[in-house]
Amino acid sequence: MEGRRIIVTGSSGLLGSNLLNFLRNGKGVELYAVYHSRNPAFPFCRNVHADITKSEDAARLLELQPDIIIHCAALTKTNYCEENREQAYNVNVLGTKNIAETAKKSGSRLAYISTDAVFDGTKGNYNENDEPRPLNIYGATKLEGEKCCREAVKDALIIRTNIFGNNLSLPGLSFAESILKSLREKKTYNAFSDAMFSPLYVGTFCDYLIQLCDSGASGTYHVHGSQSLSKYEFALKLADIFGYDSACIRKSTIETVSGNIRRPKNLSMDNSKLMSALKIGRTPTAGEMIAKFKADCDNLAVG
Ligand SMILES: NC(=O)c1ccc[n+]([C@@H]2O[C@H](COP(=O)([O-])OP(=O)(O)OC[C@H]3O[C@@H](n4cnc5c(N)ncnc54)[C@H](OP(=O)(O)O)[C@@H]3O)[C@@H](O)[C@H]2O)c1
Repeated sequence: MEGRRIIVTGSSGLLGSNLLNFLRNGKGVELYAVYHSRNPAFPFCRNVHADITKSEDAARLLELQPDIIIHCAALTKTNYCEENREQAYNVNVLGTKNIAETAKKSGSRLAYISTDAVFDGTKGNYNENDEPRPLNIYGATKLEGEKCCREAVKDALIIRTNIFGNNLSLPGLSFAESILKSLREKKTYNAFSDAMFSPLYVGTFCDYLIQLCDSGASGTYHVHGSQSLSKYEFALKLADIFGYDSACIRKSTIETVSGNIRRPKNLSMDNSKLMSALKIGRTPTAGEMIAKFKADCDNLAVG
């Protein structure tokens, strides 16, 4: 990434905020943080406003002459997307199309962050050749976004993932942060025992993403942790490693909580393609990554 002009969309989000922080000390890197409703006002980069659903806003990003656009902005909450279908389509599909057009016109590289939720969760251990079959609006609009990127930019990099960590712009909103909040306040947290996933710590994700970008990789990659576990097991591990009493973590199931919203059950993911691209034997386990998450939280508290 040395000497590159990099645009990161979704700068107030979990991933965008961490990615910008990860890239901030890159040699000769010029960083542009694209925000929408909440300006993170990062002092180490230029904060640029754009509503990606507006083609004129996305086109204005051309003036920044990016070498690479890392597109993290999306509507990410499954329930919200289900209840606000048109808005989900506008942001996740049309917004992505607008960003992909900007990448095409500027001749820049494009990395699009997609999700494991493009799969229906019946099979598990999904690799990049498995047929996506999303169950809900979030998954369907993210999959549509993938198509927009591939159509506009031939060598687009499409990354499917599931991440956890601290949002560095607006703390407290992400999955892991809300579990930790419940643990601290000894309030009940219901976690699905029948929803499997292969989560990756956001710090590790940023490292892998940048390595893939630097290597010139294109096409689709599953970027996940090596261990699959249920959301309930993940919450218990978080409690254990952070030293909290796990009594307030309760088992729930997709059927009892989800109402009419369809959610995939087994989103365990096959990482082989990533591992051979990065020449690594395995990605870290959930326990290893939660320990790293805790160490980073402790450093943040001291710093
Ligand atoms: N978190 C996960 O576990 C996970 C799992 C799989 C895939 N992903 C994918 O990874 C990416 C990042 O996720 P995240 O967890 O960081 O999301 P997030 O915390 O929910 O942040 C989403 C970001 O999108 C921005 N945004 C929303 N509408 C916009 C618009 N109209 N114009 C411009 N920006 C807009 C938001 O900006 P404002 O707040 O300023 O409106 C926010 O910064 C997403 O594409 C998501 O689908 C995440």
